[in-house]
Amino acid sequence: MDDLAGKHIVLGLTGGIACYKAAELCRGFVKEGATVQVVMTDAAAQFITQVTMQALSGRPVFGSQWDAREANNMPHINLSREADAIVIAPCSADFMARLVHGRADELLSLMCLARPIERVPLLLAPAMNREMWAHPATHRNMAQLAQDGATILGVGSGFQACGETGDGRMLEPAELLEDIVAFLQPKPLRGRRVVVTAGPTFEAMDPIRGITNHSSGKMGFAIARAAREAGAEVTLVAGPVHQPTPRGVRRIDVQSARQMLDATVGAVAQADVFVATAAVADWRPAMQSEHKIKKDGSGPPTVAFAENPDILATVAQSDRARSRELFCVGFAAETRDLLANAQAKRARKGIPLLAGNIGQLTFGQDDNQLLLVDEQGTQELPRAPKLQLARTLVAEIARRLAPVRP
Ligand code: C5P
Repeated sequence: MDDLAGKHIVLGLTGGIACYKAAELCRGFVKEGATVQVVMTDAAAQFITQVTMQALSGRPVFGSQWDAREANNMPHINLSREADAIVIAPCSADFMARLVHGRADELLSLMCLARPIERVPLLLAPAMNREMWAHPATHRNMAQLAQDGATILGVGSGFQACGETGDGRMLEPAELLEDIVAFLQPKPLRGRRVVVTAGPTFEAMDPIRGITNHSSGKMGFAIARAAREAGAEVTLVAGPVHQPTPRGVRRIDVQSARQMLDATVGAVAQADVFVATAAVADWRPAMQSEHKIKKDGSGPPTVAFAENPDILATVAQSDRARSRELFCVGFAAETRDLLANAQAKRARKGIPLLAGNIGQLTFGQDDNQLLLVDEQGTQELPRAPKLQLARTLVAEIARRLAPVRP
């Protein structure tokens, strides 16, 4: 996807072994459609060459405030004015200390100081040894930087280049990319809480077998990601799927419909929005055998079914949903007559908004197309990657919410 299309990112590298990850991050920015201008400190150049970063960004790298390539000889002004965001990755402990003091004796800190502070966000991806990360001076500096308007992107934990293990590693390039894409998205759900169900459920027959369906969870995971990007606090109740958890999303894994109901009811008590994308099994085996049902020569077993709770309908009937404190959105996977079925389902479930899709065109796929049905009428969202559709759906939900009470 072109998640950063039209964006110009200034990528600043400071001295640290995590510079090798900055090469991958730079590639990630370019792949997502951004133009990238790399600026490196002298210390960064000890770890990775300007040649590498120029090749990956497709632009000559800047490293000095005396760079005469700029006609006015003011790279710190020109580079910072062009940027949609300045990302410092890796950001060393020393560089944070320099930013705290507003130092301006080398190009990168000079450029950060000279940036139009209201218009050009500064994002920092710290990278350092665990003791440096834990040091009170680092914490003091980070608090000051946050107060001065910088965004600190967090760190990873684990094995460090110095041989020690702990917090302070730079986040992986894919993690940083997801966080930076999220940062640059509009925030219509800031201050809201969103709960999403996703994936199939698994209804056990015995400890080994059960019934389930082909839902991949991709649409629900994309909605959870899009809601988080839009500024919401997101809980994702997921059936058994193989999808990575979107960054910044709280995930609760469940198996059966009844477990999904319990987790969802708990989570929606505080929520503003509930989006039911899960393909919940309508029925479960009425009896669950404690041990494996054996093939004992007496023929196949007869399986009786019991009806599962309808999670969406249950939540939609709660007082908070009826009074519109909780805005409920359902999905309908149909094989035909999408419009009529979607309208009927919206009415039957008692929800303000429903997204219809054709089962065969969505299950397991990366793309989908949606038909939004509400009280006013219908709206088609043409075939597109699920994340793109999820972002549109989230914007549509946000538009329909009552304003946040002061
Ligand atoms: O009734 P049907 O399964 O077609 O409705 C689909 C919608 O209801 C989806 O939003 C789905 O997540 C939700 N649902 C549910 N619990 C069920 C069945 C469906 O939440 N047991």
